[in-house]
Amino acid sequence: MTLLPSSGTGWTVTSPTQPRGEAPAAAEIVAGIDRVTQHHGPWTTNYSLVPGVRTRDDEPDPNDRTRIRRLVQLVSDVAGRPVADLRILDLACLEGQVALEFARLGARVVGIEGRESNVAKARFAAQTLGLTNLELHHDDVRNLSRETYGGFDVVLCLGILYHLDDEDVFTFLQAVGEVCDGAAVVDTHVGLANERTYVFEGQTYAGASYVEHDADAEDEDKLANRWASLDNPLSLWLTRPSLYNFLSECGFTSVWECHQPRWEGMHDDRVTLLAVKGGRVTSLPSEPEVEIGASAWPELEPAVQSDPGLDTGATSEATVQALADTDERLQEARRKVRRLRTRVRTLRTRVHTLRARVRTLEGELEEIRGSKVGRAHSAAVRLRDRWSSRRR
Ligand SMILES: C[S@@+](CC[C@H](N)C(=O)[O-])C[C@H]1O[C@@H](n2cnc3c(N)ncnc32)[C@H](O)[C@@H]1O
Repeated sequence: MTLLPSSGTGWTVTSPTQPRGEAPAAAEIVAGIDRVTQHHGPWTTNYSLVPGVRTRDDEPDPNDRTRIRRLVQLVSDVAGRPVADLRILDLACLEGQVALEFARLGARVVGIEGRESNVAKARFAAQTLGLTNLELHHDDVRNLSRETYGGFDVVLCLGILYHLDDEDVFTFLQAVGEVCDGAAVVDTHVGLANERTYVFEGQTYAGASYVEHDADAEDEDKLANRWASLDNPLSLWLTRPSLYNFLSECGFTSVWECHQPRWEGMHDDRVTLLAVKGGRVTSLPSEPEVEIGASAWPELEPAVQSDPGLDTGATSEATVQALADTDERLQEARRKVRRLRTRVRTLRTRVHTLRARVRTLEGELEEIRGSKVGRAHSAAVRLRDRWSSRRR
C-alpha cells in the first residue's frame, strides 16, 4: 500500500455513501432490532442505522463520535488512496460500529469478533444497510493468520490488545504484523507502571495487570461481560516502551501517535498508534557503509523503585521493606478498582438486558389485551366482579 497521497492534497471524506437498493422502512428496522435484542440481549453501542433509528434508545455518547472521526481521519490521511479502495480488517469488532463506518465508505471490510451475540448484531446492521462489502466472522482473534484471512491494507486493532494476557499479547501482535500490508491502527490502554514482566522469544517486556473477570466467574458470566476478554481472567497492558519495541519486532518500521483529531473523553492511559509497514532504513546516504539497527526504548524502572514521592535513595532494610509494602498496597488498590470497574460494566449490561425484557413483556401484554382472548378475559373479569358485588 502507498501511504500518503503524493499530491499532498488528500481527498475529501464526506458523509458515508448510501447503501445500494432500498433500505427497509424504519418500523421494519425497529422490529428487527427488537427481534435481535430478544435473542442476543440489547446493543451496548449506540449507532445510527438510518436517520431516526438507532440501535439503542438512550442518548448516544458524544465522545464515541469523536473517536470514530479520529479513526476515519487517520486511515484516510495515510492510505494514499480513497478509503473505498482499501481492504480493512477490524479485529474484535464488537457490534460492528467501526467496521460498518468503513464499509459505508465503500471499503472491503472483514470483521472478526469472539462473541456470537455481538456478531449477530453486526450482521443485522450490515444486512439492514444492504452492505455486501462487510464480511463478519465469529472467531477468536488469537486464531488470526494470513492463511485464513489474507492480507489487508489497514488493520484496525482497536480496544482488543489490552484484553489479552501474556503469550497471547505477543503472538497476536505478530499475527497483526503478518496480515498487515500497509498500516495498523493500535488503539489501546498502556501500562503506566512496570508492575510485572514477561519474557517472549528471549526478550523481556513489561506491563501492568488488568482484572477482566473475577477469579471464580462462570463461563456464562464471562460471555455476558460483552466488552471483556473471552476467557483469560487477567490481561497484560504493555508499557509504552515495551509496546513500541515489540511493534518493531513485528515488522513495523515506524510507529506514530495520533493527537489530532482529538478523542474527547479519552483516558490518560490510552493511545491511538499508527504502526506502519514500510521498507526498513538500515543506513544513511551520507554513510552507506554504516549499518544502523533498530534502537530499543529503555524500559520503565520496576514499579517499586519508580513510585513518586518515595525516597528511593534510602538503602536501609526497613525503608526497602516499607517501599515494598507500600507498593503491594498500591497494587492491591489498583486491582480492586479494576475489579469494581468490571463489575460495574457487567451490572450495566444486566440492567440493559432486563430493561429490554420488560419492554418486550409490556409489548406482549398490550398485544394480549388487544386480542380476542384478551377482550374475552376482560369481559369475564367484569362479569365476575359484577356477580360478586351482587352477592355482597
Ligand atoms: C472493548 S471492546 C472493543 C470493541 C471495538 N474493537 C472498539 O474498539 O470499539 C472488546 C471487544 O473484544 C472482543 N474480544 C475480547 N477478546 C476477544 C478474542 N480473544 N477474540 C475475539 N474477540 C474478542 C469482545 O467480545 C469485545 O467485542
